Order: sequence, then structure tokens, then C-alpha cells
Amino acid sequence: MEYIQKVIFYIWKSIFRHSMPDTNRLRSEVITSNVLLHIHPVKVFRDTLKFTKTFGLGLISFYLFIILTITGILLMLYFIPHTARAYQDMVDLKFVVSFGMIIRNMHRWSAHMMVAVVFLHMCRVFYTAAYREPREFNWVIGILLLIITLMLSLTGYLLPWDQLAYWAMTIVSRIVGSSLFIGDQIRYVFLGGTVVGQNALIRSYVLHVVVLPLIAGLLLVIHFWRIRKDGGLARPGEAAAAKKTGDAPVEDLKSYGLMNLVNGKTPQVGIEPDEMTTTWPHLLIRELVLFLIVVIFVMGMSVLFDAPLEEMANPAVTPNPAKAPWYFLGIQELVSWGDPFWMGVFIPTVGVGLLMLIPYVDRSQIGTGVWLHPSRRLHNILFTIFVVVFVGLIIVGTFMRGPSWQLYWPWEAWPTGH
Ligand code: HEM
Repeated sequence: MEYIQKVIFYIWKSIFRHSMPDTNRLRSEVITSNVLLHIHPVKVFRDTLKFTKTFGLGLISFYLFIILTITGILLMLYFIPHTARAYQDMVDLKFVVSFGMIIRNMHRWSAHMMVAVVFLHMCRVFYTAAYREPREFNWVIGILLLIITLMLSLTGYLLPWDQLAYWAMTIVSRIVGSSLFIGDQIRYVFLGGTVVGQNALIRSYVLHVVVLPLIAGLLLVIHFWRIRKDGGLARPGEAAAAKKTGDAPVEDLKSYGLMNLVNGKTPQVGIEPDEMTTTWPHLLIRELVLFLIVVIFVMGMSVLFDAPLEEMANPAVTPNPAKAPWYFLGIQELVSWGDPFWMGVFIPTVGVGLLMLIPYVDRSQIGTGVWLHPSRRLHNILFTIFVVVFVGLIIVGTFMRGPSWQLYWPWEAWPTGH
């Protein structure tokens, strides 16, 4: 018996190299020696642990991505991307596969939530001015992540091969096809032909399950790496702290001094030691609790509400109105006002470009890491106008457009289309 206990102990010790980390030294070692944990610094600023600092939105986005990856792999075991099979496979998930519908629901609801949460995370970063130097490039990576998230959702939307999917893809491919000069070519590559059919389905599938997740994974690694190397989350006074020491040039301190700090090395830029605390257990426990809350929430939603599945895709029956998924309805609304290229391609592209430029134009450090700092009133007003217009267009497209894209108030009866 004693021998078996010893063997179990050796096995345990070979995997986990430390006893319960109850000293600061062990708490550091447990982070640096664990492949999953070492993305974290050994110590973090106490101030950045407060929930209201970030509302956990970046982490929630990441957790949804994990849930999507796991449920997505499970769905791949049943789903065959063929126009004659795809729809029936979706129906079978409900009636034939144990827990199939829950898995599909978790995948669908997490995807919708991820689009919304990533957008909210971007708003949080803006309103706390956390995109400023040295985090400019991470903001740009973030925008790319937002675009990839949207593309992942869209390519997934086509896969069930129901009416929603088919007509959403038709609308989006028309908008893409309106691009200047090479619109037709882009549309052709996107659809694998000139119509939404088998080629479009397999292309969406490959993009959805291989290409886009790989790009997202790579961008996420860079995103997290940069958070670490940029000195953790943006904090008020971090630039001023960097200026305190005097010896090294301020620029060097910003890029190296703060980095050393979060790696747990000797504080050298005027930071009081009690401003920091160990990642184990203070940050890790918060991350774990948030993860559990997200999983429970997504599971709860998936038990209560089924993801929609309409009739099988039918090119002969055009729904009126045919709508894109909700996150593209703002663009569809814009397109209904004028030329598809200027409204559907040019304006959104310029919008994304302007978003990416923000940190390169706003070079100040006053108010960094503070919610809605008074010195940034103009910035905040301009950004809020952008958010209101963007969300407003989606609301109009979703709730106020009836047959033939007729405008109506949500509380009025659904227009008849005559
Ligand atoms: C898949 C999408 C994304 C994931 C999973 C993600 C994840 C994260 C996480 C976990 C953090 C740490 C702080 C927090 O939890 O809020 C963070 C910080 C950050 N994110 Fe994201 N993010 C995503 C998209 C974006 C987008 C769309 C932007 C902006 C356009 C962005 C810009 C930033 C910046 C600048 C920081 C540093 C913030 C600071 O220092 O306070 N991220 N991100």
C-alpha cells in the first residue's frame, strides 16, 4: 500500500513540480514552469485586478473562442458540408445525436455573443484610452481580431444550408461583388463560381474550420504576448512612473523598464512594491471564476433556447425581406441607401482604417487607463457618435425593415409588402 502511494506521489510530482504554492517564491515558480500559465507575468498590478477596470471583456471573448473551438470540433464529427447532406445533418443533431442540439446551441449562441463582446471590449479599450503608446499595435491587432471574428461568424452562418444561410450569403456576396475593379473576381473566389452552391459551401467550410481559426489563433497569441510585453494593462500614471528614474532614457524605460517590472524583476521605475501582487492565486482565481460563469451562462442559454433553423435552402423561394446576419445588417441598411460599392465597401473600409489610425493620432498620455477621463471629452463624444450610428443602423436593419425593405416602427404590424 505504501509502495502504491509512493508511485502515485512520483507520478504527481513528475507532472506538478511544486507543492501547494504558499510562498511568493513558489508562486513565481508555478507560473514560470507551467506551459499554460507562463503567458502570465509572475506579478500583476493590484489596480488592474479590479473587475470594473476591464469588466473581463477580453477574457470573456477568449473563453467564448475556446467554447467555440471545442463545440465546433464536436460538430465537425457529424456535419458533412454537402448541399444534399448539410441541412439534414443539422436536423439530425436535434433528433438523432445525444446532446447534439445543446452542442449546436452552444456553438451558435457563443458565436453571437463573441461578436457583441469583442465589440464591447474594443469600446472599453477606447474609453479607458488603453490603446495609446506602447499599445498602438495591439489595438491594430485587436481590430484585425474583430474582423476575423465577424468573418468566422459569417462563414459559419452559411453552413446549415437553410434559407437564412443561403440568402444571407447571397446578399453578402452581392455586396462583396460590388467592389471597385475586382469585385467580380473577389466574388468568384469567394463563391467558387457565380452562384451560391456546393462550391460556396465548401469554401465557407474550409475558411470556417481551418483558415480563419488558424489566423485567429495566431493573432490571439500575438495579442496576449504584447499585453505582457507592454507592461500588463494600461494604468494611470504609468508614463509618469517611467519618467521618475532619471538615468535611462524615458523611451527605453517605457519599452524595457516596465517590461522587466512585470516579469517580477527588481522594480526600477518608481513603482512601490505593494502596488503589485502575485498572479497565483489573485489573478488566476478571478480568471477561473469568470470562465465558469461564462460556461454556465452559455450552457444555460443553450438549454433554454434553440438556435434557429429555417426551411432547407431554396434558390427558387426568396424570403422578403432577405436579411444578412444581424452584425452585417448595418451595412445592408447602408447599401439600401445608395450604391453598394460606396455604401457597402467604401464606407466600412474607411471606417476600419480610421479606427486603426486612432492610436497613431492620439499621442497624449493624459488620462491613460482611466474610464472617460475629462481631458478626453471630445474623443469620447466622437467615438460615442460612431458607436451610436453603428448600433443604430443595425437596430434599424433588424427591427424596422419589413418586406421590400419598407420602413416600419417595431410596435406597428408587420407591413404586408404591397
Ligand atoms: C478575439 C478578440 C479579442 C480577444 C480574445 C481579446 C483578448 C484580450 C484580453 C484577454 C485582454 C486583457 C484585458 C481584458 O481582459 O480586457 C485584452 C487587452 C487588450 N485588447 Fe483585446 N481582445 C480581442 C479583441 C480586441 C479588439 C477588437 C481590440 C481593439 C480594437 C483589442 C485591443 C486590446 C488592447 C489595446 C488591450 C490592452 C488593454 C489595456 O492595456 O488595458 N482587443 N484583449
